[in-house]
Amino acid sequence: MQPTVIAPSILSANFARLGDEVDRVLADGADWVHFDVMDNHYVPNLTIGPLVCEALRKHGVTAPIDVHLMVEPVDRIVPDFAKAGASIISFHPEASAHVHRTIQLIKSHGCQAGLVLNPGTPVEVLDWVLDDLDMVLLMSVNPGFGGQSFIPSTLDKLRRVRQMIDRSGKPIRLEIDGGVKAENIAEIAAAGADSFVAGSAIFNAPGADQHGYAEVISRMK
Ligand code: DX5
Ligand code: ZN
Repeated sequence: MQPTVIAPSILSANFARLGDEVDRVLADGADWVHFDVMDNHYVPNLTIGPLVCEALRKHGVTAPIDVHLMVEPVDRIVPDFAKAGASIISFHPEASAHVHRTIQLIKSHGCQAGLVLNPGTPVEVLDWVLDDLDMVLLMSVNPGFGGQSFIPSTLDKLRRVRQMIDRSGKPIRLEIDGGVKAENIAEIAAAGADSFVAGSAIFNAPGADQHGYAEVISRMK
């Protein structure tokens, strides 16, 4: 098991003052920045790209930026994100014609590589690539939007993938994304996750506007 990471999804941040939001959430205890990239093609929503990632680096963000690509095709955008300062780049196997090649491409650009499994994607997709991955990201909602409810069957899937990772003996992270809150995070951690994405639970936490994010992040930790 890797050390615990809380990765706020900036999808739920105020984009009109994104730099300040990221500074604040990191100062309040977050470990990574989760950066959701949506293309209105692979998923029915449109968000941000490498320019915004680069702008956060220029703004002074030094924390790991955890780029979650919900785009198709994948390969074309990988070098741009590496250049823009991405630390980890994760993609969906359904969006790449050559999953193994995309993993190698990400690593050849100096980033860590993650594979993302949708709620309906079987864990067997990991069988021949797990050893090459730095992270497995399990979606606990269907990708495209923040603020959805955690799909309970993901707990069983987490336990399955935890076993696969432990058997591999490799230092592979297991991240969970979708519907994570202070109220369910203990159960999710017990099922085997070590890295936790949370968007609405952090950025829309009651009172966060006045008091910041420290309270909700420390409750999660
Ligand atoms: C959904 C995104 C998530 C999303 C999580 O497609 O990948 O990262 O922002 O939002 P919450 O935590 O609100 O479910
Ligand atoms: Zn995400």
